[in-house]
Amino acid sequence: MEVVGRLASGVAHEVKNPLAIILQGVDYLTKKVDTEDRNIHSTLSFIKDATHRADKVIKGLLDFSSISKLDIRSENLNSIIESTILLMKHYLSENKIQLIKDFNEKIPEVKVDKNRIEQVFINISMNAAQAMPNGGTLLFRTYTKKLSQSDKGVGRRKEDPYKLGETLVLAEVEDTGPGIPEDSLDKIFDPFFTTRRGEGGTGLGLSSVRNIMELHEGQIEIQNKKSGGAKATLMFKIDE
Ligand SMILES: Nc1ncnc2c1ncn2[C@@H]1O[C@H](COP(=O)(O)OP(=O)(O)OP(=O)(O)O)[C@@H](O)[C@H]1O
Ligand SMILES: [Mg+2]
Repeated sequence: MEVVGRLASGVAHEVKNPLAIILQGVDYLTKKVDTEDRNIHSTLSFIKDATHRADKVIKGLLDFSSISKLDIRSENLNSIIESTILLMKHYLSENKIQLIKDFNEKIPEVKVDKNRIEQVFINISMNAAQAMPNGGTLLFRTYTKKLSQSDKGVGRRKEDPYKLGETLVLAEVEDTGPGIPEDSLDKIFDPFFTTRRGEGGTGLGLSSVRNIMELHEGQIEIQNKKSGGAKATLMFKIDE
């Protein structure tokens, strides 16, 4: 892992426990303090919100920097997406987001850590959902693709992850939100880059996604669609 990653992970571990103690303490005081003084209650509530926010950042950092052993197995990507959808179903229907599944049922198995890849789809779907506060459509698509010369990451260099003619499994997640502003497109994968700080965003969602995909020798790209909205494309090596 890079030095920055190790540093982040070390700090996050050190801060996690004290934060948990503060949270428990505030919860306890909120229940026990017997006063009509509104300032005391609002102060406790500020502490609680701030601690929750710090906790979210720390959890995100741990997620982002963790290389803790992957549990790699042969998995069907459609099933992984199905279980992600199951986890999010309630949230999506409450937010008037319609689901479309366009699965190729014949995709070969991929070698992945199921929990990590579920996290990837959750982070991407949450971003899509948050970009559609008044509802919209969320589409999941899977298919295979045989790589040709012009595809990214194909080549003869040693660091190129894919071989010419290799078949990959691809997943796409599309939304009908406003898309990503052009001047943000090259920053969205940076740790802590967020346009949603006011709504509790940490900016660690997509950097974790990229990290997890790299650990799987996979790739992720996010683009705006011509018809509006954003589209994430994820590429996975197949289990040969
Ligand atoms: N589907 C999308 N539509 C529009 N903008 C998006 C989309 N996905 C990501 N973004 C932009 O990319 C930024 C970074 O996303 P990322 O998931 O890393 O952080 P976040 O969502 O802001 O915070 P967190 O993931 O902690 O809630 C977002 O703040 C948003 O501006
Ligand atoms: Mg996010």
